[in-house]
Amino acid sequence: MSSVPAYQLAHGTVRPRRLRRTPAVRRMVRETRLHPAELVLPLFVKEGLREPAPLTSMPGVVQHTLDSLAEAAREAAEAGVGGLMLFGIPEVRDETGSQADDPDGILNRAIARLREEVGEDTVIMADLCLDEFTSHGHCGVLDATGAVDNDATLDRYAAMAVAQAEAGVDVVGPSGMMDGQIAAIRHALDSAGHTDVIVLAYSAKYSSAFYGPFREAVDSQLSGDRRTYQQDPGNGREALRELELDLAEGADIVMIKPGMPYLDVLAEAAAVSSVPVWAYQISGEYAMIEFAAAAGAIDRKPAILESLTAFKRAGADSVLTYWAVEAANWIREDRS
Ligand code: PBG
Repeated sequence: MSSVPAYQLAHGTVRPRRLRRTPAVRRMVRETRLHPAELVLPLFVKEGLREPAPLTSMPGVVQHTLDSLAEAAREAAEAGVGGLMLFGIPEVRDETGSQADDPDGILNRAIARLREEVGEDTVIMADLCLDEFTSHGHCGVLDATGAVDNDATLDRYAAMAVAQAEAGVDVVGPSGMMDGQIAAIRHALDSAGHTDVIVLAYSAKYSSAFYGPFREAVDSQLSGDRRTYQQDPGNGREALRELELDLAEGADIVMIKPGMPYLDVLAEAAAVSSVPVWAYQISGEYAMIEFAAAAGAIDRKPAILESLTAFKRAGADSVLTYWAVEAANWIREDRS
């Protein structure tokens, strides 16, 4: 028996392990590779801050001052990341989020400052949503009953888009899940002459428990939840409907969020989308790996790289990740 060659032993015997034998062979046949340009770094900037403020729920991530933000942007540009996604935390919040479209609002000032610092070398994106700016913490304005008023919110998003464009943003990222938001923003941008500003639509954004640490990052004042506008985690088909609508309304790039718990949605979106499909590896996903690694439960670097590779394998063209700079540096150093 033992002298019989393996290929004769059983019908269809094959040896997939042949392609796993050495690092060089594995490198040669790897289907999915990461590139720094496909990583986007989210950054938080807070008005009135004197020193960068570390976040306890996201070890390694800070709320920036305008100066430390500029420094972080330069570092990211050097690492070759694809772009920056900015979130602003204003000192004063009100019912309508008026700081969002004020040229002196912290987010618009940050856009202008970075535009000055990094020129055209790095793509500057900004979150286009009201939750950081409203006193109630919702992504839109409220009607008399306290419900989020979809169409009144669209007017606010339109004003916010134009303000960000005027500050010099390359990409606006509407993340509020209001119906018709992409069309309203595209129309407002075009009417104001900002036809080149790219719209990155958070097309399928789920109402997720994994946004937890983000609440600390933006000093969120939300009580309650976002379930009347963000998607129910049980729904997959609905994501494709949202995606189709965003494409029809003129989205240039679409995004699925959160990332890892929704890789199935990402894969389905990637299979049908005619524009780039991105994933957002959100705050809770970051925290899970950081805290598990700190506890000695997992090996940090391979876990991070594996998680990023998973997004690309599932079909993402780019990933928003708080590890963008660190991962970009690893990728450049590592020839595998
Ligand atoms: C809304 C927005 C949120 C995130 C990005 N844009 C919060 C939310 O929808 O509740 C979450 C990002 C993260 O958790 O890392 N402005």
